[in-house]
Amino acid sequence: MRISVIGCGYLGAVHAASMAELGHEVVGIDVDRSKVELLQRAQAPFYEPGFEALLSASLASGRLRFSTDIADARDAVVHFLCVGTPQKRGEYAADLRYVEAAVESLLQALKPGDLVAGKSTVPVGTAARLAEVVAGKVPGAMLAWNPEFLREGFAVQDTLHPDRLVYGLPAGSDAAVARALLDEVYASIVAAGTPQVVTDHATAEMVKTAANSFLATKISFINAMAELCEATGADVIQLADAIGHDDRIGRKFLNAGLGFGGGCLPKDIRAFMARAGELGADQALTFLREVDNINMRRRIRMVELAREVCDGSLLGKRVAVLGASFKPDSDDIRDSPALNVAAQLELQGAIVRVTDPAAIPNARREWPHLDFADTAEEAARDADAVLLLTEWRTYRELDPTAFGAVVTQKRVLDGRNALDRDTWEAAGWSYRALGRRAG
Ligand SMILES: NC(=O)c1ccc[n+]([C@@H]2O[C@H](COP(=O)([O-])OP(=O)(O)OC[C@H]3O[C@@H](n4cnc5c(N)ncnc54)[C@H](O)[C@@H]3O)[C@@H](O)[C@H]2O)c1
Repeated sequence: MRISVIGCGYLGAVHAASMAELGHEVVGIDVDRSKVELLQRAQAPFYEPGFEALLSASLASGRLRFSTDIADARDAVVHFLCVGTPQKRGEYAADLRYVEAAVESLLQALKPGDLVAGKSTVPVGTAARLAEVVAGKVPGAMLAWNPEFLREGFAVQDTLHPDRLVYGLPAGSDAAVARALLDEVYASIVAAGTPQVVTDHATAEMVKTAANSFLATKISFINAMAELCEATGADVIQLADAIGHDDRIGRKFLNAGLGFGGGCLPKDIRAFMARAGELGADQALTFLREVDNINMRRRIRMVELAREVCDGSLLGKRVAVLGASFKPDSDDIRDSPALNVAAQLELQGAIVRVTDPAAIPNARREWPHLDFADTAEEAARDADAVLLLTEWRTYRELDPTAFGAVVTQKRVLDGRNALDRDTWEAAGWSYRALGRRAG
């Protein structure tokens, strides 16, 4: 099949290379010339395990290319929209200007019979509105919404082996045509028995925001329990283990810590609340405001904890921050809890040095006033406290004995409940974590 992918960021670039891997002829289009040049040279513009190998193989197969020219989408029959939908500045709502601009430019390349398949996360109602634009300008062209559930860090695996496919189809006779096109795109995934949910535009859009809201709620639930554990001396890890044994609850996403960040969960729950307000259903989602509040309070608590262990004042204290990306195995620093905490520590007078296996270039660009180091040892040299804020494997596997030799004070704050407390304490460290007793 001939496919175009409009917007080649974390989502679109992986989608484009994966569609070529499935055997399709793919053109990836982006307005960012430098990104397109990198991709065309088989260089990943971002860190994502397995992506660069997939990109090289897909380019070498001759089935994948990248362009800045929307006219190159003319040969394609299915056009995936993968542009960003960030939070509007100063508002909760999603900023749809990139989606609108992408559709507007795509209109020049569309033919009757083509399918526009939206993958970006959009407020419910967007697809129906865009479908009218598409059909109005190019009679016979159709629009479906096919939300994406990939996780950064597992993006290649999740795109090639998704746990479900959701098709939000247009009404009427176009539905069957659009479904057949999407089934052809995902033929091998469908043949593997992947569950499909075939529905309307609005449900498909809501599936994505509902899924993210549920995940955010689960994280904030356990972090609310962590707040109570801190107030009572109970232990949030044992609590999560115990409630997680109930398979109606499940242990996944019950890891108490610094909370969620990134380019999806925070802005998606806010956009969902804003959209509910527009629809006169804001009461249905007021709980998400509390989910957001609990999440943000963890960052403040982490700074307080750092002050506490630094004998009540951060002024002039050397603090090492392990992790800058919003999650491990990614260089994405959008709304990164780790950088947010690092910046607050610095504002309160600490001498902060941040390290990360992949995200330092991005972090340095966004937070030029912070100090960066290439390794954990370098970041922690002469430190008064070490904060683990993003649980990269390399930090989880640090040898506390050897690592203890570089710091001034063996104080570790485990912002992700990812270290083995007993091993660190046995090596002479004082260990503190969110939701757990002081040692
Ligand atoms: N990153 C994820 O893990 C993930 C997962 C699921 C869904 N999503 C959703 O996918 C969408 C994209 O997210 P992302 O993380 O890839 O964002 P991103 O910022 O990494 O990528 C967006 C890309 O779109 C390009 N772009 C903007 N306007 C364009 C236009 N008019 N024509 C062509 N290209 C254009 C930008 O240059 C950029 O490269 C968002 O709606 C997001 O919520 C992301």
